[in-house]
Amino acid sequence: MQKNLQIGQQIINSIHNVIGVKDCSLHEPVFDGNEWHYMKECLDSTYVSSVGKFVGQFEQSLVDLTGAKYAIALVNGTAAIHLALILADVAEGDEVLAPTFTFVATANAISYLKATPHFVDNNEDTLGVDPKKLYEYLNKFTKQKDGKCINLKTNKIIKAIIPTHVFGHPCKIDEIVDIARKFNILVIEDAAESIGSYYKNKHTGTFGLMGTLSFNGNKTITTGGGGAILTNNKEIAKKAKHLSTTAKLDHKWDYLHDEIGFNYRLPNINAALGCAQLEQLPKLLKSKRLLFKKYEDKISLIKGVSLFKEPKECKSNYWLQTLLLDFQNKNNRDEILSLTNENGLMTRPAWILMHRLKQFNNNPRMNLSCSESIADRLINIPSSSNLIGKN
Ligand SMILES: Cc1ncc(COP(=O)(O)O)c(C=O)c1O
Repeated sequence: MQKNLQIGQQIINSIHNVIGVKDCSLHEPVFDGNEWHYMKECLDSTYVSSVGKFVGQFEQSLVDLTGAKYAIALVNGTAAIHLALILADVAEGDEVLAPTFTFVATANAISYLKATPHFVDNNEDTLGVDPKKLYEYLNKFTKQKDGKCINLKTNKIIKAIIPTHVFGHPCKIDEIVDIARKFNILVIEDAAESIGSYYKNKHTGTFGLMGTLSFNGNKTITTGGGGAILTNNKEIAKKAKHLSTTAKLDHKWDYLHDEIGFNYRLPNINAALGCAQLEQLPKLLKSKRLLFKKYEDKISLIKGVSLFKEPKECKSNYWLQTLLLDFQNKNNRDEILSLTNENGLMTRPAWILMHRLKQFNNNPRMNLSCSESIADRLINIPSSSNLIGKN
């Protein structure tokens, strides 16, 4: 048997051993709390769209969980990033720093504003933006002019940075915030994947000027489709709510809109689901941590591959369990992916790196060698919280 098949087979055996079922998906939602009850209540009330009690309740629960002063519930995580960029005053011609190793939503949202995604590298300690590399790059290739950070190569303003907490693992967000402050760059944290994850005991998404969340069906908790902006800034929160509700002014019966707005508010029916899901979060997080521990026991016995563990000083939600192949095994990734999928276990590679997508391959960037190396060696394995208990 070839070496890669040996590793592939060992991975399959380990996963089967842990989860006790032959077939399973990468991540599926679990609805065993008040989901049916709140959804019925919502339907009975007839308030399924933009008005209803669940939106405010969901936002308050997000505030209670994260410690952010304000949470604004929106239709999805991409809309949250788009709106956050507008609120950060990003405009046509600006550059926004974003990891190449993240989901395409970030680069898309920047592009909606005719701004340019400028790609930065992540590191293997956290899977997130590498603060050291970021500092050295900004030091060498930017200058300060009138309180703005200017890219020396393009002469454009670098307005913001959007670091992602990849697969739920917090990046070194305090260092990134410090560097960004030094260079006059605003921070929008993409916490789409990291609800329930903490860096130095503070919830992810609460370090920057704004944080964004996603409640897509594949996330730790879901509202069907949904997202949110977190912020401590009262003015930003007020404007986020206004712009996401078509910039409509309060009036008993008239349609007064004072600027161009968006229909980005989360509907009440989605918020009802979200309220029930948030109640389940502690239980889901416990199961996901237990799943990690069970996988760790097995995967640590296989040579040539490791299971990614939460970084130091972090508490991760372990949204997606992640294998990293050793360098000498990197050419075997696709065969391992094929073998596991053929055997009924849904596994996935990481995203195609943003600078490798044709629409972004001429964008400004730093050296991205670490992200390239991680992406070439990474495999996500079945991660649903309900896998605990099936064995
Ligand atoms: C890192 C990251 N950013 C942004 C998003 C966008 O969220 P949504 O799918 O809710 O638009 C997602 C998830 O899908 C994501 O994983």
